[in-house]
Amino acid sequence: MAVEQTLILLKPDTLQRGLIGPVIARLEARGLQMVGLKMLKLDKAKCDEHYAHLVGKSFYPGLVSFMTSSPIVALVVSGPEAVKVVRDMCGPTNARNAMPGTIRGDYSLSTQYNVIHASDSLETAQKEVARFFKKDELFVWERTLDKLTAAADEKK
Ligand code: PPS
Repeated sequence: MAVEQTLILLKPDTLQRGLIGPVIARLEARGLQMVGLKMLKLDKAKCDEHYAHLVGKSFYPGLVSFMTSSPIVALVVSGPEAVKVVRDMCGPTNARNAMPGTIRGDYSLSTQYNVIHASDSLETAQKEVARFFKKDELFVWERTLDKLTAAADEKK
């Protein structure tokens, strides 16, 4: 079981609705460790880079307009299998398909205004972390609970 880092963006709707605290609280309560955290405003160039696979889709101009409309909060969290754990916590992109108990399932009814972005694979996470954070903006700090969890789970 690998300890991974993954990138999370709390989108402009989350800021507008005052939901940054509740979403971060869920991540912390799950046991994920905060490694990086900042507020920033995306510009179109950064959007084009981050959503390169979507440039050309019919919804892309609207997505850029939305993502550059207000500041966002970028986070890097770390934990056992963090990439999958965070994606599962988010629920599917279309929040109307998200189960209650997931972040999107509890806070959104939209595909675009869906509160949170999270890296979809370990490979993507490594690229996305580097896209938003310099090395000296990431803090690796000791938490004894991680070691206890890893040791206990490996016995099974
Ligand atoms: S795809 O093509 O739907 O499989 O792309 P995906 O990687 O899931 O990412 C979709 C991101 O674009 C945002 N978005 C929309 N997706 C689909 N349809 C519409 N109409 C749409 N509008 C916006 C969606 O919120 C996803 O953002 P992220 O940040 O990746 O969650």
